[in-house]
Amino acid sequence: MRIDVVTLFPDLVNCVSGCGVTGRAVERGILDLHCWNPRDYTEDRHRTVDDRPYGGGPGMVMKVEPLRRAIHDARQADTVPPLVVYMSPQGRRLDQDAVQRLADLPRLILIAGRYEGIDERLVELEVDEEWSIGDYVLSGGELAAMVVIDACARLLPGALGDEDSAQQDSFMTGLLDCPHYTRPEVYEGRGVPQVLLGGHHAEIERWRRKQALGRTWQRRPDLLEHRVLDEADQRLLDE
Ligand code: ADE
Repeated sequence: MRIDVVTLFPDLVNCVSGCGVTGRAVERGILDLHCWNPRDYTEDRHRTVDDRPYGGGPGMVMKVEPLRRAIHDARQADTVPPLVVYMSPQGRRLDQDAVQRLADLPRLILIAGRYEGIDERLVELEVDEEWSIGDYVLSGGELAAMVVIDACARLLPGALGDEDSAQQDSFMTGLLDCPHYTRPEVYEGRGVPQVLLGGHHAEIERWRRKQALGRTWQRRPDLLEHRVLDEADQRLLDE
């Protein structure tokens, strides 16, 4: 998968290439990450990327021309047509289904805005989809773009050490994850649940499922609202 990020802070975004799952994905050639800085596409002496908003008000707005030139070059850098995504609090809220859909694409261009946002005409002319990572406002779209890059990268075949681990994640199953334990067996008087020590795989699976259902019901009942539980799950939840 190729991801191009249009950002005033390429160093920030490129951090993902240096560590963890995203770093390994880049190293293995599974993820091809590139940044394009609108400041490199300015034509004035001060390399101006922002200006005051028409109609007045606080803050600055990212100018359309440098951004559009950067997006143009990002588009041209590969023959595969990209989906162009603008990260903004006004977008649809990202969830695992959306991430899966993005990760299945061969190519993405992510636009990270700064200041009060970008000139709306850029959205009209260049943007296919607008996504938010949650109902709060960041000082720029870079961290949001990095969230998308990370969430997508770990779904790419070969990116994770253990191929099963993405399948078992919270939200892949539509439920929250069960609790996890590793050594020591007892820590500050707190033991690991007995069932996990017994090696009885069916019992362990049953316990994990029950924990996942119980946690979801307690912490995120909204996830269960539109879901019909099968009989076995309903029984586990009722126990
Ligand atoms: N830019 C600023 N805040 C954001 C958010 N919550 N999601 C996506 N992009 C953003």
